[in-house]
Amino acid sequence: AAVGLVIPAAGLGERLGVGMPKALFAVGGESLLVHAVRAGTASGVVTSVVVAAPMGQAASVHSMIERELPAGAALRVVDGGATRQASVRAALAELPADVRVVLVHDAARCLAPAALFADVAAAVAGGDDAVVPGLGVVDTLKEVGPLGEVIATPDRSRLRAVQTPQGFTREILERAHHEALRRGDNDVSDDAGLVERIGCPVRVIPGHAEAFKVTRPLDVELAEAVLTSRRG
Ligand code: CTP
Ligand code: MG
Repeated sequence: AAVGLVIPAAGLGERLGVGMPKALFAVGGESLLVHAVRAGTASGVVTSVVVAAPMGQAASVHSMIERELPAGAALRVVDGGATRQASVRAALAELPADVRVVLVHDAARCLAPAALFADVAAAVAGGDDAVVPGLGVVDTLKEVGPLGEVIATPDRSRLRAVQTPQGFTREILERAHHEALRRGDNDVSDDAGLVERIGCPVRVIPGHAEAFKVTRPLDVELAEAVLTSRRG
């Protein structure tokens, strides 16, 4: 089945604080977005790419990325929305008609390995409607109330920190986004969470340490170090 790659890349990057949209910020000489597109297409499973670009920058983003695509892969770039959910929704609306499986991948998880895209797509092709990569958590997590009072300490062994690429059948993901909008939800950052809300099972498969999200300045140091070590 044709596999579409949706890349939300429209965020402002406020926590990174580099004065430009985060997806356009460079590590190792290339923008986070270019790294993310390269990894996704290097998986060999992606037939089309739709990027949700920072508002007003669709044209420049298109020319930045088109040279990264393998021959025959389709590229569309749309203006993103005010929330990640809105950006994904805008990109979904531009998927080519033949796409049956959708991988949603944050530009900010720019170093996710190509094999992770292939693993997620294979799990969806194997019959799961919704598949997300996840890793065990290293810190103990506390649920707290508004004054910092601890409400609960969930058993860490049952928790996973989830990553992207997240994979879905197109039908399930579109229905999940449609139902979210109908409920009035417009700022849910996790696509799998929207799918859970419509009662569809979601499977977690093993994630990868290099699929971490560049969120804060320290993450840039880590990304630079990973790229240096990859260059051997
Ligand atoms: N994203 C998006 N549209 C938005 C907000 C976020 O497409 N309105 C994308 C980001 O570009 C990023 C991914 O969603 O690739 C994950 O979001 P996050 O890490 O929170 O990035 P930002 O929202 O840019 O960062 P911050 O929350 O610190 O402002
Ligand atoms: Mg954000």
